[in-house]
Amino acid sequence: MTAKVISICNLKGGVGKTTIVMALAEYLAGDTMYKKRVLAIDLDPQSNLTSALMSEEVWEKEFNNRGLTLPFLFKNPEYFLDSAKNDNFIAKKNISNVRNKNSFSHLHLIPSSPNLFEIQEYLPSGYYSLNLKPVELLRTILKPLLNNYDYILIDCAPNINTVIKSAFLASNACVIPCVPNRMSIHGLEILLDHIEKFNRDFEHSLKPVGTLISRYNGTLAQTENLNFIIGHPFFPAIFQTKIPERAKIAESLDLSIELTYKQKYGGDTHESMVNLAKEFIQRVGK
Ligand SMILES: Nc1ncnc2c1ncn2[C@@H]1O[C@H](COP(=O)(O)OP(=O)(O)O)[C@@H](O)[C@H]1O
Ligand SMILES: [Mg+2]
Repeated sequence: MTAKVISICNLKGGVGKTTIVMALAEYLAGDTMYKKRVLAIDLDPQSNLTSALMSEEVWEKEFNNRGLTLPFLFKNPEYFLDSAKNDNFIAKKNISNVRNKNSFSHLHLIPSSPNLFEIQEYLPSGYYSLNLKPVELLRTILKPLLNNYDYILIDCAPNINTVIKSAFLASNACVIPCVPNRMSIHGLEILLDHIEKFNRDFEHSLKPVGTLISRYNGTLAQTENLNFIIGHPFFPAIFQTKIPERAKIAESLDLSIELTYKQKYGGDTHESMVNLAKEFIQRVGK
């Protein structure tokens, strides 16, 4: 079976995109969970997903210093595509600090780097030796990998530049995390308009599989905004699972100690994440 490629995106920062990609990756891939083959890709120059899933030392020595973090795909695509033969830009060992009984047999990561901030500003219009445009690079590099995974999850920066469009072009579907507040809803609305335009311009069919309510605290203001989203068919159907606002989740982006799922996310959030992974599989397909 070929991998489902899913972008996790919203034009608003701080809505939990990275946290949700991390949790989905850990719960989908966990040997004691759903045992899926998962590749997570950090496409945000802030590199929060990379910091949350791999040690800084390995990141620096084995990946960034060797030009094998994601920004270099856009800077030196010939070298990067050539290294696709042995896919040495993919981190395959010791991803995540969750250590359950036997953790992960198939959780991989393509790490990012703040170098992407600069590189994405100076993209050429095309790589003539490869006959490719920058927007096509991610799809090109993922193509030979699709049979190796069940799910490829792309953590998108809150942006609509060429790098993010390359994620859209490589993806079959997207999940849109949204905090029920005005700013995130606005980010969601603009994103949906852009996806429609993107699909027209690129003759693509990126499909929003759902709005995922994140950082939910049940206040009156959030409930009103939630009802607004539910009441407007313009928004992709809301996931039944909501991610609660919890201090433990904020701490979960700290990689420093090995933990079980429950220690990392807290008991009730652990249940939410188990349900989220299950609902994700139902919506996206096996
Ligand atoms: N459900 C949550 N409850 C509490 N804090 C959260 C939750 N989700 C994310 N956070 C925290 O909010 C901040 C932004 O989350 P992050 O996942 O990085 O969002 P994004 O990737 O959309 O910018 C981080 O410090 C994170 O730990
Ligand atoms: Mg993020």
